[in-house]
Amino acid sequence: MTDGFGSDYFDQIIRREGTGSTKYDGRQAMFGKTDVIPAWVADMDFPAPPAVIEALMERARHPIYGYTLYPDSLFEAIIEWMQRRHAWTVEREWIVMCPGVVPALNAAVIAFTKPGESAVIQPPVYFPFFSAVTQTGRILIQNPLKLENGRYTIDFDHLEQCLRGANVRLLLFCSPHNPVGRVWSPGELEQLLQIAEKYELIIFSDEIHADLIYPGHQHTVLATLEGSESRVITAMAPSKTFNIPGLNLSALIIPDKALRKTIADVFNTWHVSASNPFSVTAFETAYREGEAWLEALCIYLRATRDAVAVFLTEHLPQIRLISPEGTYLLWLDCSALNMSDADLRHFFIHKAAVGMSPGTLFGIAGNGFMRLNIGAPREIIMQVLRNIREALSRIDQKHPGG
Ligand SMILES: Cc1ncc(COP(=O)(O)O)c(C=O)c1O
Repeated sequence: MTDGFGSDYFDQIIRREGTGSTKYDGRQAMFGKTDVIPAWVADMDFPAPPAVIEALMERARHPIYGYTLYPDSLFEAIIEWMQRRHAWTVEREWIVMCPGVVPALNAAVIAFTKPGESAVIQPPVYFPFFSAVTQTGRILIQNPLKLENGRYTIDFDHLEQCLRGANVRLLLFCSPHNPVGRVWSPGELEQLLQIAEKYELIIFSDEIHADLIYPGHQHTVLATLEGSESRVITAMAPSKTFNIPGLNLSALIIPDKALRKTIADVFNTWHVSASNPFSVTAFETAYREGEAWLEALCIYLRATRDAVAVFLTEHLPQIRLISPEGTYLLWLDCSALNMSDADLRHFFIHKAAVGMSPGTLFGIAGNGFMRLNIGAPREIIMQVLRNIREALSRIDQKHPGG
């Protein structure tokens, strides 16, 4: 299944500086300096599947880059992928193409709530979940995840408290969850749906990380569960899966006709329903021809995750890994370093020369945490860890016994 994509393939170091890469060329803006190892923005330092690269070159050779339709073959590729990888039978008319999952989060808030109404999120969570609600003049309700024995779960009692009597129409749900790495179980999803039914809640289920799952876990598409048809909007994309997020294209899959129309109308008002020839080509080719590459990627990421876990246990016991069940984003509990969030950020950037996402970006539930993106050649990730170990040992030498 993984022919040609052994670990040496993912070990290749490809320079990205000067390509306009947010992760590399955005370091000055984000960290105030360029000499940090970038392990922040959620894209990977791996080449896209060769079939995608070839299809893009082929398309580029045709010299006219005009307005582009979504071909039937694109919808077929999505339908086949969802059936094969997620045991989900999707119908053609359920699919609404859109320029990204974050635009879709914003569109969902505008489509399904009015100014002054509320939407719920479950922090710590990917920061656009906050801004999608607050920037559109809606009221943000937070149902923080519970952290018990190193594992995050949904606080269903608190969720019900949030919903009782409040004018909440929408839940922005992250599945698998960025940054905590949970792959929600069917039991958890069923409980969530029961609550949604009781309080007539619409769920926007962001499943962009659905294909990046570690062995021993299985992603369940919320919309495959009974009772979801009239209330779930699923966002899917090959962008994280195949490392093509800069091509800005994703699919909303919405069985309910009225919900579908409501959100499609928002995109039509903005005039952003069409895409471009390259995104369409890459999207379809990735789903059709990228599977062996993805299988190999998941093996590589698992080995990197395990190597990080071993290194932390052996050399950095002050930093606790919240073991991820999916995604290439590792959530590191740094609270035992006893630093304020400002000091943590300063320490990692200026002492360790490592550019991670500070946990505070994901809400106050992220205080004391950092998010490490391991989507890079393993040697780079090990260098990140060695940098941290050395920086900490310099502090210990300055303050022996402190
Ligand atoms: C949970 C989640 N949703 C959405 C996105 C971004 O989606 P898009 O690039 O399609 O807007 C990310 C990227 O990190 C993410 O982690």
